[in-house]
Parts: sequence; C-alpha cells; structure tokens
Amino acid sequence: MYLTVKQAAEKWGINERRVRLLCQENRIEGLKKEGKKYMIPENASKPSDLRGKRVLKTNINKKIDFSTYRKNYPDINGYFGKYGGSFVDPKLQKCMTEIYNAYLTICKSSKFINELREIRHHFQGRPTPIYHCERLSNYLGKVQIYLKREDLNHMGAHKLNHCMGEALLAKYMGKTKLIAETGAGSHGTAVATAAAYFGLKCDIYMGEVDMEKQAPNVARMRILGARVIPVKFGTRTLKEAVDAAFENYVKETKDAFYCIGSVVGPHPYPLMVREFQEIIGREAREQFKEMTGELPDCVCACVGGGCNSIGIFEAFLNDPVKLVGVEPMGKGKAPGENAASITFGKEAILHGFKSKVLVNEKGEVCDAYSIASGLDYPSVGPEHAFLHDIGRVEYESVTDEEALEAFKLLCRLEGIIPALESAHALAYAIRVARTCHSGSILVNLSGRGDKDVDHVIKKYPQILE
Ligand SMILES: Cc1ncc(COP(=O)(O)O)c(C=O)c1O
Repeated sequence: MYLTVKQAAEKWGINERRVRLLCQENRIEGLKKEGKKYMIPENASKPSDLRGKRVLKTNINKKIDFSTYRKNYPDINGYFGKYGGSFVDPKLQKCMTEIYNAYLTICKSSKFINELREIRHHFQGRPTPIYHCERLSNYLGKVQIYLKREDLNHMGAHKLNHCMGEALLAKYMGKTKLIAETGAGSHGTAVATAAAYFGLKCDIYMGEVDMEKQAPNVARMRILGARVIPVKFGTRTLKEAVDAAFENYVKETKDAFYCIGSVVGPHPYPLMVREFQEIIGREAREQFKEMTGELPDCVCACVGGGCNSIGIFEAFLNDPVKLVGVEPMGKGKAPGENAASITFGKEAILHGFKSKVLVNEKGEVCDAYSIASGLDYPSVGPEHAFLHDIGRVEYESVTDEEALEAFKLLCRLEGIIPALESAHALAYAIRVARTCHSGSILVNLSGRGDKDVDHVIKKYPQILE
C-alpha cells in the first residue's frame, strides 16, 4: 500500500511541499514515482532530520540557561555581561531613569499591552507572513530559503514595531514631541508615522549623504509632517545623525521623547527596543512550525544597530537552531571601508553604551561605510557583542557586491524588491545554499527596497541587465 504526498504530509504532520521536497531529494525509503505522482510506502518512516550532518550546526552555550535568559539579561543596570550600561551625563541619566521606570510600570500594564496589540493588528497589519522562496531555492540548489516578511509591515520595514511602542509610551508619559536619528530613513519614516498617528510633533536628524541616497524616505517623512534636519558634519551619515539628535534632545527633555532607532544607546533602550521587536521572532517561530512541521535549521538577519536581528533571534535562543547575524563588509576589510563592528570592533563606549566599536589605534571612532545606509554604524547593540562572546550567535559578513547580487536575485526570481540592508542577510543565505547539501534557512527580510531603487539604478546600472 502506498500513500500520496497529501496523505504522507498528514501522517507526518508536515506540509505537502516539504514531503515533495523529501521525495525530490530521494530521502524516503521504497519511494516510487509513476509519471509525476510520488508513491510513498505506507510503512515508510519520516526521514530523519539531517541537522547533525549538515554544515549548519548549532552552537548552544551550555553555561547559560536560555530558558530564563530574557529575565536575566540585561541585569538591572542594563548590562549584558560586560556590555551595555548607561554612560551619560547626570541630566540625561535622570531622563533615562524616568524612561526606565515608565517602561517597567506603563509598558507592562495590561492597558498598554492591549493597546499596542490592537495597533499592531489593525494599523501595522501584523502578523506579517512567512514566505517560501521556491524559485530562488531551486535556482540555488537544495537548501530551502524562507523569508519573514517584515517588508510587509506598514511603511515597509520592521522599525515600526518599536516606534509604535516607544511613541505609545511617550504619549502615556505626557510628551508632545518625538526626536530621532535615521540612516536609511526607515526608522525616521516609522517615527514620523508614529508621530502622525499619536498627534505628536516630530524632528528627525539625518546625515546629508543619506538624505541624498534615501530621497524617497525623506519625502515620506516630510509628507507625514516631520521636520527632517540635515546633519552636515563628519561623514554626514548615521553616527553624526545620532550625535546631533542626542545633542538636541538634551535641550528639550521635558517635552520630548527620544525614539532611538535600534537596540543601541544607554539603558533602558537596548532592552526596551528588543522587547518591542521580539514580536518578529515569536510570530516567525510559530508560523515556520505550522508551515513546515519543524524549526528552521538556521535563522539569519542583517545587523546594523541590531534590532531586526535581536527581534527574530530571541525566540530561537533556546532551540537547536543556528543563529547568524550578517554584518556589512562594504568595499573591503580596510578601516573605513566597512561597518563590521563585531568582526573588527574593540570594546569601547559610544553614544552612551559599551559595546564593540570600530576604533583606530588611538581609540578614535573610525568612519563606517556600507552600501546600505541603515547598516553603516560604527558600533552594534550591546546584546550582540555579548551573544557573540558567548558563542550563541555567529556573525558573518557580506560585501556590497554580494548584497547587490542578492538584491537582484530576489527581484528577478521572486518578485520582491528587498531593502539593501535586508539583502545582506539574503546574501548570506544564498552563500549557504550554494555550499550546503540540504537544510532550511529563515531570513528576516527586514524591509522593502523602494527607498533604494533610484540610488541602485543610478550607481549600479548593471542591475538592469
Ligand atoms: C530595512 C532595514 N533593515 C535593517 C536595518 C538595520 O537596523 P537594525 O540592525 O537595527 O535592524 C535598517 C536600518 O535603517 C533598515 O532600514
């Protein structure tokens, strides 16, 4: 007696696509094929997971109990091991303490939680789906690539997840204005959206170089009613935008709330932004299991400041799943040519927190560079530095060129234009798919690429070939 693909899928508790794949890989004992129809012996057992034999091995640190990790990290002072903390002047520290106290009381109240849940569902359009890239996977080999579609979040990026949370907190605290920095403009657009939603004023600081590169997002912020303030010093990119935003926030702390753009900054921001972004991983873990009957072998995400990656990783920390953060190697390994802060960074303090920072021999902060404006930051969230040191998350890097190839492949094979930032995570998945025999990778597609198309066509016209 034989089963059809559908019957086998029901028996094994996995979806039909997965069974068809197992058939194609010839991994079912006694399998027959008649024409296009697979015939699966009734007594065949579900093929064992190849995880152990795959190149995709998980590295769970046994010294840390990940079932209680969220409660223990960060500690009460905002430390993840030796990273994190709050290194700001006393005036700003008073604001950080006020925000932390408000976070612990307001954000943990059922009223706040329910309001944010409603906003996420009805305004943001959550949950965002999981998507199986069949054409891309088949084109590359046998590894199956899946996307968590944060590009389908309202406004086209994951940033709104924490901005709606931060802005809601600002409203509860009686603030009337949001201040933020932005690199790619995704965070600025999300803050401008949240400000419009809650009826708050909004100032966004953005480097002049990024304003030109990401012009569509500048227009969106302005249309939404935000003031976009050009930052004209230094490299005129993200680091200086943070400097300028902080400098101006200090002058108006009574009425304004600083909406930080990632899991960076002084405590409690890395904790607060992580918790608002965790929705990505929580949804993705359930959705992936429902779609395939198992967990992915690997989850990867690009790392700028690190919030989309922390957001998806957190749900998988206690699972036998390989987690990979993908850093921008830009044009090369030389200082100033990349923004790979985990790979090349040294322990230092920048923007009020301790983490890995790109510094020169004199300890001065180096310029950072990436084709993706949202990734060219010379440091990284302190939790990433910690997860790297304990070995739970691996960090790989991808060049501009690899990111552009991934950008093009996703456009042409799946009809999805990814943000250049997200294309870095995809480029890593593509690299693995070309070298591994089997397995599944879930890529966090943090945003859509509409903001990048003008710049890409102008600078890299070969993309149209
Ligand atoms: C679409 C997109 N993905 C990723 C990032 C990087 O930020 P993070 O590492 O905090 O997720 C940005 C930053 O602007 C972005 O716009």
